[in-house]
Amino acid sequence: MLTREENELLCRVEGEAPMGQLMRRHWTPVCLIEEVSEPDGTPVKARVFGEDLVVFRDSDGRVGVMDEYCPHRRASLVYGRNEEGGLRCLYHGWKMDVEGNVLEMVSEPAASGMAEKVKHKAYPVQEWGGMVWAYMGPQDAVPEFEPPRWAPTAEARVSIAKAILPCNWAQILEGAIDSAHSSSLHSSDMVPARVDSAKATANTWLRPSTDKAPRMQVQRGDYGFRYAAIRRPIKDAATHDYVRSTVFVAPATALIPPNNLYNVANINVPCDDTSTAFYFIAWGHPSQTPETETWRKFLRQTVGVDLDEYYRPLRNQDNRFWQDRQAMKAGNFTGITGFPNQDVAMWVTMGPIADRTHDRLGASDLAIVEFRKQMLEAVRAFQNGEAAIGSGEKAIPHEVCAFQAIVPKTTDWRSFEIRPVWADGLERSEMEPSYSVKA
Ligand code: FES
Ligand SMILES: [Fe+2]
Repeated sequence: MLTREENELLCRVEGEAPMGQLMRRHWTPVCLIEEVSEPDGTPVKARVFGEDLVVFRDSDGRVGVMDEYCPHRRASLVYGRNEEGGLRCLYHGWKMDVEGNVLEMVSEPAASGMAEKVKHKAYPVQEWGGMVWAYMGPQDAVPEFEPPRWAPTAEARVSIAKAILPCNWAQILEGAIDSAHSSSLHSSDMVPARVDSAKATANTWLRPSTDKAPRMQVQRGDYGFRYAAIRRPIKDAATHDYVRSTVFVAPATALIPPNNLYNVANINVPCDDTSTAFYFIAWGHPSQTPETETWRKFLRQTVGVDLDEYYRPLRNQDNRFWQDRQAMKAGNFTGITGFPNQDVAMWVTMGPIADRTHDRLGASDLAIVEFRKQMLEAVRAFQNGEAAIGSGEKAIPHEVCAFQAIVPKTTDWRSFEIRPVWADGLERSEMEPSYSVKA
């Protein structure tokens, strides 16, 4: 349970809201590369921390992330002409390049020199891991881009499903670090089986446990925390535990326990206080990680089938998420197809910003409690001038990752040797950054 003030502090990200300012101290995904793949292609509208942005790729392939509204009289540049090295506003023809320089001001006499005096707001950009990233913090102290833990090297395959959801980022994040829900909400999709570990098949993820009430243990770090959800395994229950360890990487990423083939993560980027870009990521060795199309089909997150062309889910509150009550009678737990769609129904129906002044947290909610506590402490420390949680020196150490394993009860999960899933029998990637920084 939080006070109303604490809930506001945790959730709000627009304008001067401290949590939004904290988040701006991190490189942030603004859209998928696939949305702006073509030079001189259609500009894309993105909304991040309540700020409207236009994203476009110019004739030379450079990506720009700028204020959506033209510096002249604020017409939207999303409708502009993307031509010859810049974006031209339709209204009076001003043309801006990816850095916000005004290349042409056709409505003004050339002699006025006004074009040199105006600079449009444009952010530093990086393309990495299938995403376009921008640094929206103070522009006099732009940190070097660091690859996220879910796209550590250029050789990893990264497949991403995207959905724009009509609710606050924090309730989505709380879903990602809530191990207990999967045994109920996803019980028809993640079925218990006599397997040695979580196993991915073409249409399901098998679980080696029937235990619906995991014991939770948390280990805090400067970057966030990791926790273990400890369950009774189906096999060797007397001597072994089934451990699923999830990592919360502040401010809004969760590294989810992998299956036997690939790693899983999600990142929640606030569009504003009441809507969020939710990215669900599979990554790992190209021979074992599904391609984007397969990944989206598996999750029921295909554009044109499950989502509209702007990544908004077609299953929504107006149509009860296409819930099939007959299927429920026949044994399906939720009647909602695609396990992320089951999560979405839970997150969205909590309301635009979940009211945390009334909830009743139990032992299985330990990670949720820790998330709220840690982020509230972090945002207060940030208000007092400390560096943002997870940034700079407080970044996640390279050896921390999510894992799942059946381990002897005598093993402490905190000291269990862990590595991301990579292809068996192949030399393991060093997982060192090997990206190129754009000048
Ligand atoms: S409003 Fe864009 S050029 Fe005038
Ligand atoms: Fe879930």
